[in-house]
Amino acid sequence: MKIVAANWKLNKTPIEAQSFCQSFLSQFSQDQNVKVLIFPSAIALDAVSKSLQGSKIGYGFQNVSHENSGALTGENSAAAGLSLGAQYALVGHSERRALYSESSEIINKKLLNLQKLGITPVYCVGESLAERDAGQTNSVLEKQIKNELAGYSTTAPLIVAYEPVWAIGTGRVATLEQIKDAHAFIRSLTAAPILYGGSVKPENSKEILNVMNVNGLLVGGASLDENSFLKICRV
Ligand code: PGA
Repeated sequence: MKIVAANWKLNKTPIEAQSFCQSFLSQFSQDQNVKVLIFPSAIALDAVSKSLQGSKIGYGFQNVSHENSGALTGENSAAAGLSLGAQYALVGHSERRALYSESSEIINKKLLNLQKLGITPVYCVGESLAERDAGQTNSVLEKQIKNELAGYSTTAPLIVAYEPVWAIGTGRVATLEQIKDAHAFIRSLTAAPILYGGSVKPENSKEILNVMNVNGLLVGGASLDENSFLKICRV
């Protein structure tokens, strides 16, 4: 079964999220051989949870704290998300790493907290353009995975997403060869399903899904429009 995940980033009000989910559900055949996940902004999580009730579509936070409660102004509690049925959380997205200075240490803490709660992380890794040009792609991926998954049980639920930083939101998709190589390398480090993310569109989603060791897709921009996301989900 393939996994197709929508990362809405800082887009969609609760009402827009609700209308997307209702319309998506009315057109999407849930018998399809695909698991769909939706990551709305935290403020729309309740609306998504209510709209998806009774469906097989999963959802969760784009970002969670490493703690479940306390004096942490502005953070999201994964434990509180569980009460809304959130079973997934993005961790280590490159925008969190770059714009909010998330370190490997904090990413590790977040992953270990999710493990305790039984929430499945969609754990994002990827190299910058400078790192790729310097031939450091594999060493960067290995360092991220070894440090950030330290202490994470191989039997705990986990989804990994390979997202080359230079392909996110740029329209510059990695070549099938680059995707194949990076996924094969990540596969040598983990048995978890591996998603590809970075400028996925209906026009390129099928060929990317056919690459060896690509178990699904993490879609940003093209997941905002329900017709384009529906096309990507019809794997
Ligand atoms: P994009 O974003 O599809 O807009 O490139 C992907 C992501 O950031 O997860």
